[in-house]
Amino acid sequence: MTIDILVNNAGFGHSGKYHENPAEQEFALLQVNVVALAQLTRLLLPGMVTRGWGRVLNVASTAAFQPGPHMAGYFASKAYVLSLSESLAYELKDTGVSVTVLCPGPTQTEFTERAGIKESLLFRLSAQSAEKVAEIGYQAMLKGEAVVIPGLHNWVIPGLHNWALAQSMRFVPRGVARAVASWLVK
Ligand SMILES: NC(=O)c1ccc[n+]([C@@H]2O[C@H](COP(=O)([O-])OP(=O)(O)OC[C@H]3O[C@@H](n4cnc5c(N)ncnc54)[C@H](OP(=O)(O)O)[C@@H]3O)[C@@H](O)[C@H]2O)c1
Repeated sequence: MTIDILVNNAGFGHSGKYHENPAEQEFALLQVNVVALAQLTRLLLPGMVTRGWGRVLNVASTAAFQPGPHMAGYFASKAYVLSLSESLAYELKDTGVSVTVLCPGPTQTEFTERAGIKESLLFRLSAQSAEKVAEIGYQAMLKGEAVVIPGLHNWVIPGLHNWALAQSMRFVPRGVARAVASWLVK
């Protein structure tokens, strides 16, 4: 069977202090968010490169851009997805194969209930529709863009703050980034 398009979307998060969360929950998160994504990507890329065409869409999060106290394992898992995807995008230049990493901010799905953060400030401020985020990711994947943060593409939709938050992390001290992320998640 030939697979030319891989979308690594499966993922989940949970809130709470890392040392108090059930260990099996933390390891299951790593398995789904990191290990499965890494395995599928490594498995399918060689065939795509040999055939000279392929598209990989990895779903990270704006959580990938800073540490996230109270969702530590989740934020760390998404940092892995962002870093791996960007490196692969560069390595694969001129092969016909692209790797795109989609970094959504709060999005209206079942994620918040599973993660136990439905009432967090982050989600109460604004959440984009899943359809809009999926469309932006899909189009970016077809074009072979490396990194896409929904909210940058259209200045009037709620979501511009996703881009602004992600970019601002480059300029603020790490201690401030940790504190802001903790405040938003709680
Ligand atoms: N919603 C947000 O605010 C948000 C923001 C940034 C990034 N994301 C990312 O977007 C992606 C999709 O999440 P979502 O928001 O659509 O949440 P969702 O509605 O909870 O959907 C999660 C998806 O992941 C699958 N999944 C979860 N655990 C799994 C497991 N152990 N094995 C196999 N599949 C599993 C689920 O499959 P089943 O339904 O079969 O369990 C479902 O298809 C995730 O990677 C998430 O981290 C979400």
